[in-house]
Amino acid sequence: MVSADGFRRDVIAGLSLPQKALPPKYFYDARGSRLFEAICRLKEYYPTRAELALTRRYIGGIAGFARQHGTLIEYGSGESMKSRLLIEALCPSAYIPVDISKDALRAAAAKLRRRFAWLDIRPVYGDFSRPLKIPLPQGRGRRVVYFPGSTIGNLTPEEARAFLRMTRRQLGPGGAMLVGVDLKKDANVLHAAYNDARGVTAAFNLNLLARINRELGGDFKLRRFRHYAFYNAALGRIEMHLVSLAPQRVNVGGHRFTFEAGESIHTENSYKYSVEGFRALARSAGFRAGEIWLDPKRLFALHGLVAA
Ligand code: SAH
Ligand code: AVI
Repeated sequence: MVSADGFRRDVIAGLSLPQKALPPKYFYDARGSRLFEAICRLKEYYPTRAELALTRRYIGGIAGFARQHGTLIEYGSGESMKSRLLIEALCPSAYIPVDISKDALRAAAAKLRRRFAWLDIRPVYGDFSRPLKIPLPQGRGRRVVYFPGSTIGNLTPEEARAFLRMTRRQLGPGGAMLVGVDLKKDANVLHAAYNDARGVTAAFNLNLLARINRELGGDFKLRRFRHYAFYNAALGRIEMHLVSLAPQRVNVGGHRFTFEAGESIHTENSYKYSVEGFRALARSAGFRAGEIWLDPKRLFALHGLVAA
């Protein structure tokens, strides 16, 4: 469950840091999920198209690697767009989408039930950054964990390692995992993907402040903040910030926070990995790097991992 108390605690703790920061998992209220879906359809935002292209192209090999007819578990499933291709190819008996966005999860499950009437769909509303109980159907063969979209890039490498370790325990020896990972590339391509001309990414970023106002009684004035995203080459990540345009004070849940002009709230990291960089991370978490599939433009990678 995602509690209002947890949200309040995280926001107050994050805004109290010397470099103010908010966890990106809170982007995804109903409007945030809709905005993310709009981002996926932008011409500048290549990751969704690239991952879809490689999944369509190599679906036979991907299904052969996963080699299962049991349970497909997907973390950060959102609108379950790519999962449809996997479900068609793998024919699992159960599909367990896990997401922190109740609305996206419900809408996706309803659509999938219409399309795959034979499939046992068990949505789990929850936060995968904490220990989470997944109701696994018994005796349904092997499990495969799917983590597409480069959502793993929104975790720090240490958090990503901890997440992979947790998944390895869940899979057991020999279990397969498929992880979508955005590749390092020309900084201009990255910059455009997070600074789209129509301002959808800016609206997605600013929506976090609107959510704090609505759910926690905050008084952020959205016009006094500006979306700022840049590629931090030294750390291999896009950073998204909300920059205060003037000195100001903001109240949230009985706490007052002051901002200098130009001071920012760091709202998201999106780490980019080389193929070998991600394989090394997976190995350090107890996986054997099995196969890898790239899109034709070599923008995005799908890693097939086997739990050691
Ligand atoms: N897999 C989809 C969506 C990626 S967007 C795709 O590839 O397009 C990231 C998704 O992860 C969102 O749906 C968001 O709600 C979910 N998410 C982000 N942090 C999460 C967390 N800590 N626990 C559960 N879901 C999370
Ligand atoms: C979900 N996640 C992988 C997206 C990303 O690219 O890091 C979220 C996003 N942030 C801005 N645009 C898209």
